[in-house]
Amino acid sequence: MQVKLSSGKTIPMEMHKVRIVQQTWLRPVEERRRAIQEAGFNTFLLRSKDIFLDMLTDSGTNAMSDNQLAAMMVSDDAYAGSESFFKLTNAVEEMLGFRLTIPVHQGRAAEHLIAKTFVRPGDACIMNYHFTTTKAHFEMAGGVVLELYKDGALQTESDDPFKGNMDLQKLEDTIQQFGADHVSFVRMEATTNLIGGQPFSLENLRAVKTICEKHGIMLVFDGSLLMENAFFIQQRELPQMSVAEIARAMMETVDLFYMSARKGPSVRGGLMATNHQALFDRLLPWVPVYEGFSTYGGMSTKEIEAMAVGLREMLADDIAGAGADMVEYFVGRMVEEGLPVVTPAGGLACHVDVKRFLPHIPQTQYPAGALSAAFYLVSGVRGMERGTISTDRTPDGADVPAGVELMRLAVPRRVYTLSHIEFVVDRLKWLFQHRSLVQGLGWISEPPVLRFFFGRLSALNQWDAALMNAFAADFGSNAL
Ligand code: F0G
Repeated sequence: MQVKLSSGKTIPMEMHKVRIVQQTWLRPVEERRRAIQEAGFNTFLLRSKDIFLDMLTDSGTNAMSDNQLAAMMVSDDAYAGSESFFKLTNAVEEMLGFRLTIPVHQGRAAEHLIAKTFVRPGDACIMNYHFTTTKAHFEMAGGVVLELYKDGALQTESDDPFKGNMDLQKLEDTIQQFGADHVSFVRMEATTNLIGGQPFSLENLRAVKTICEKHGIMLVFDGSLLMENAFFIQQRELPQMSVAEIARAMMETVDLFYMSARKGPSVRGGLMATNHQALFDRLLPWVPVYEGFSTYGGMSTKEIEAMAVGLREMLADDIAGAGADMVEYFVGRMVEEGLPVVTPAGGLACHVDVKRFLPHIPQTQYPAGALSAAFYLVSGVRGMERGTISTDRTPDGADVPAGVELMRLAVPRRVYTLSHIEFVVDRLKWLFQHRSLVQGLGWISEPPVLRFFFGRLSALNQWDAALMNAFAADFGSNAL
């Protein structure tokens, strides 16, 4: 929800009140330097106690509602046939229109089972864009991941409302090239995460579905960020429809749905759903092998109860845009301050365009990783590298320069306030003015897969010392 002030300025308006809070604090800059050094300049390896505002991710970090918390109290802890599961299937059927639901412990567990069941070695896994865990699972199963995003999707400065759209001509051409029998599926990812949380239109989704149907190819839908994509469609394409109606219309195109429920529904879990009995029957036997019995899927029944409530709440018009409105304000302030940021504002985070923020650092020295470490140092705010470090090497060991170098500052839903956002923008502004002090990173130890999680790096020429000194000279060591 946005509200227009009498000055004409628009600000996000929280349609909730805060009744439980968690203490946070800002360590002195010297301690922050020690913390980031110990973390190998990898923000994943920081400890929560050393972080002021945690903008690493919007996954599992969102504020739950009172109704969700209440639902957790009445969960039914049966190994098989839990009533909590049936509340979930009812919510899925009512909100998304799928009769068959498989709970899994989180989104990547669904990807694992989908890879195991549907990906054949050498076959194409076509998608608008990959997510890190998606690509890892499909490639480990031998699939060839092909991203058929439209021209301009990776352009960071843009006014294209639907950068997440699939290029329909490329889709036809790729199916022609592989042959429909050698396409495992087409996967559409809502609010396409790695290109900056950018949505696709309902029109594009329907056109993709028409092509899939013509060739007998299954449409898989990653709905981890469904609520924001539906919200953007309402804002940018179909203002006369409610978010819930738009979500239902999107789901009508889908053969197999899956989601991480750690985002929109504000819980810690995931699910798969479909109306095709044959698809369900192929997936089901693997669920107890890898997740747990099919009525809990590796989750606590408390989470399942909260997920059922969260699925209904997240598609309400007042709630669906709670995160996206805050991101829009954040991105708008960045643009006002002349800071390089992905536009239009996306769904889950403000994405700083690092190629423009740190143009002096080549991709071989991981500028997005360097900026994430530097920003933590000067603010205590934890962001995430979404650039070349987040892209694994090719099988022959070559580094793959990422299409976009981003620092993601995620905005967990209903957690941070406008003053938090103003603080972040201010410290980014300071860092931009001192950007020449930041240099690249080099590897200390590099894992073979999803290296961004555990990789350790060091600051070339120990640039962190000069940055810390410049910060302390302007603000003192602890600057709140
Ligand atoms: N698909 C998308 C689009 C995602 O954003 C994520 C997770 C997953 C799948 C995997 O789900 O984490 O529940 O296993 N995104 C988180 C993030 C991790 O930080 O953006 P998961």
